[in-house]
Amino acid sequence: MKEKSLTVSACAKLNLTLDVLGKRRDGYHDLRMVMQSVSLRDTVTLRATEGDFGLTTNLRYLPGADRNIAAVAARAFAEKTGVSLEGLRIDLDKRIPVCAGTAGGSSDAAAVLRGLNRWFGTGLTLPELAALGEEIGSDVPYCVWGTTALAEGRGEALTPLDDLPACRILLCKPDFSVSTPELFRQFDAVKLRFHPDTPGVRAALAAGDLTGVCRRMFNVFEQAMPPQRMGVIDEIKSTMLSYGALGACMSGTGPTVFGVFAASDGAGAEAARAELAGRYAETFLTHSVTGAQARGEEPLPEE
Ligand code: C5P
Repeated sequence: MKEKSLTVSACAKLNLTLDVLGKRRDGYHDLRMVMQSVSLRDTVTLRATEGDFGLTTNLRYLPGADRNIAAVAARAFAEKTGVSLEGLRIDLDKRIPVCAGTAGGSSDAAAVLRGLNRWFGTGLTLPELAALGEEIGSDVPYCVWGTTALAEGRGEALTPLDDLPACRILLCKPDFSVSTPELFRQFDAVKLRFHPDTPGVRAALAAGDLTGVCRRMFNVFEQAMPPQRMGVIDEIKSTMLSYGALGACMSGTGPTVFGVFAASDGAGAEAARAELAGRYAETFLTHSVTGAQARGEEPLPEE
């Protein structure tokens, strides 16, 4: 049988800001977040094979075709469009840290939706793919677009923002994982003292002011982290700042910490990477990317 395959990238997302506005009747929380994609990515390959629909990953502990969010996305796509998944295999090559606040699973799901749309020539628009993504997970619609955006509601109500000025972004995941539902539950008991200046970040993005964005990066979930874990996060942030990061923050429900460096500060970013990589295996030096790059419409920068 002639080999047929299609490879799509699934970029990690970061929260430049994350605010929780309140709890909803459906059990979810109303959020307000400024989202950004980076060049750290998983690779999703669709392959024609013989036999039933299947899914493989390079990480043995992840679920397969039964429960993996990428497979859930494929089934939702098939149901919506009427295509058959028979004879299709999805191979996931994961690099984005797992359960780390960087939307690895959501991005894989979004890449599957975009990829299957090309594979089958079904012609769904990006808004249609994003609407389909909403049923799969709160971050999936954002990952379908991949552009710098304000995300509200559960995370699905998106407003495109001006691109983050090009920069280097260092990601470092501490040696523990966070359960998103668990942190949301703990969060409900926390009295918030601070909120991000979301309008200020929007204004800084509109002005192309990278320093202004970095000065305002803020995530309310840092106030819900147990003190010992917050100590680790603060220490990673301090290391990044000591090497010249313009700002550092935790992403999503954590624990990944990221530091933003000027595009011209390759030396500072690399020195911070080298120091943190000695302590934390999952440390990655990446670039900011545009929506067109995250969606595979323009080439992604090399890591
Ligand atoms: O939508 P998703 O399945 O990614 O959400 C995972 C969990 O995160 C939900 O079950 C919920 O506990 C929490 N969540 C929330 N409010 C949101 C998004 C997620 O409470 N807006």
